[in-house]
Amino acid sequence: MTVRLGDIAPDFTADTTDGTISFHEWLGDGWGILFSHPKDFTPVCTTELGAFSARKADFDKRNTKLIAVSVDDVASHNAWAGDIAETQGTALAFPIIGDETRKVADLYDMIHPNANDTLTVRSVFIVGPDKKVKLILTYPASTGRNVEEIIRVLDSLQLTADYKVATPANWKDGDDVIITPAVSDEEAKERFPKGFTALKPYLRVTPQPNK
Ligand code: BEZ
Repeated sequence: MTVRLGDIAPDFTADTTDGTISFHEWLGDGWGILFSHPKDFTPVCTTELGAFSARKADFDKRNTKLIAVSVDDVASHNAWAGDIAETQGTALAFPIIGDETRKVADLYDMIHPNANDTLTVRSVFIVGPDKKVKLILTYPASTGRNVEEIIRVLDSLQLTADYKVATPANWKDGDDVIITPAVSDEEAKERFPKGFTALKPYLRVTPQPNK
């Protein structure tokens, strides 16, 4: 199945290290990040699961739940969690789905046969409170993800969900933002009382409105 931006994130029920979870119900009214790793007991994956766990408080602050998945079973995930705690200095801080039947992997098209025909790639799906997919990232097995970048993009998604703004290249929380072109100058004066600078009629910059 192909999942695209704006689609309702496919719902599923699965066994996890925290028991059986129905995805939409588990998400509740908040944001969620579903991300796959290729295989338990592998080096890059061990660092990634540790790195995401270490930033759990930052995801909590953003009302965002994390859930991981691979084609290993829950018993394997539980055994591997000990290695994550031992080597990464942090306990596993979120559930991992046991997906030995590939139900979730297939629903989200996480197996890319020309990369590897049995293991999931490093997929990331960010899901909004409306259960729609807001962001999709795909990394190969050889490249671990940057958790700081995931948090940065989450900040952008949450900001742009609430205000008629977009975030420029290399933006990070606290930087100036761009007023979306559909907003007239008159409307911009009302919506952005801190004012704005028009570098071009289509490129208007304003201080981040929620700061
Ligand atoms: C890793 O996490 O290091 C890894 C997993 C699967 C294939 C290659 C590398």
